[in-house]
Amino acid sequence: MAGLMGGFGNFTHAIVRAIPASFAKQALRTHGYEVDLAAAQREQELYVGVLRHKLGLQVLELPADESVPDCVFVEDVAVVCGDTALVTRPGAASRRKEAETMKMALKELNLNIVEMMDETATLDGGDVLFTGREFFVGLSRRTNQRGAEILADTFKDYAVSTVPVYDNLHLKSFCSMAGPGLIIIGSSEAAQKALKIMQQMSDHRYDKLTVPDDAAANCIYLNIPNKGHVLLHCTPEEYPESVKVFEKLKDHMLIPVMNAEKEKTDGALTCCSILINKKMEI
Ligand code: GLY
Repeated sequence: MAGLMGGFGNFTHAIVRAIPASFAKQALRTHGYEVDLAAAQREQELYVGVLRHKLGLQVLELPADESVPDCVFVEDVAVVCGDTALVTRPGAASRRKEAETMKMALKELNLNIVEMMDETATLDGGDVLFTGREFFVGLSRRTNQRGAEILADTFKDYAVSTVPVYDNLHLKSFCSMAGPGLIIIGSSEAAQKALKIMQQMSDHRYDKLTVPDDAAANCIYLNIPNKGHVLLHCTPEEYPESVKVFEKLKDHMLIPVMNAEKEKTDGALTCCSILINKKMEI
C-alpha cells in the first residue's frame, strides 16, 4: 500500500456549481430550517472568490440546474484522487442526475473516469475522507458497503476502511484533514467514537485537532505554492470557540469562510467544491 501521497493538499483546479432557486425550498435538509436563497448565493460567491482569487485556483463553475436543488454540493457526486475520478451514485435518488453534469466537467479536465454503475451501490463524497495515506468511508444513510467496495476497486493504491456513521448525514459532517497526518474532529460522542474506529483501523498514528463544534470540524486543507499550509474554516460568527482552536495553528494561513446558510441544508465547506491537482489551463 502507498505511504503519504506526494503533494498532499496540492491543488490547481476546483469544480463548483451555482445554486438554483429551487435550493431554498427543495434542497434536502434534516432540520427543516427556512433558507434565505440570496444569502446562500452570496455565501457561495464568496466561497468561489476565495478559491479563485485568494488561492489562485482555476475554477470550473457549472451552471445551476433547477431540477437538482442540491447541485451546489458537488463533492457528493465525484471523488477525485490523482488523475482518477470516481463518479458516484449518490444515496438520495433526487441527486442522481447531478452526476451527469459532473461527468462532463471531469472529462473536460481529462481525468480518467470511473462510473459507479452498480444499482445496488450508493456513495456520497461527503462520506469519503482521504488522508493522503488511505481512505475512510462512512457507512451512513447515503453510503453503503457496495459503494465503499467500488471506491476501493477504483483507488487500488490506497487502503479503504469503513466507519459507521449514525447521528450525522456524512462522515465529514464532523471531521476533515488539516494537513498531512492531522485530523480535525468534533467533540460529540459520535465524532469521538468514529475517530477511535479510524485510529483502530489504521497502521498510521494520526495527530488530532479537537474542536468543540462538530460542524466546525469540516474544513478545507490545501498546500499551495507561495502560501504553504492553508485552512479554510468556519467564521467566528458561526463557531467562536472552534475558531479559537484553529487560531493556535501557527503554520497555517487561516481563511474563515461563512457557510451558515448552506449549513441549514446540511452542506459543509468541503461539500461545495471538488479540488483537483492538474497541470493544465481551462
Ligand atoms: N442537502 C444536502 C444533502 O442532503 O445531500
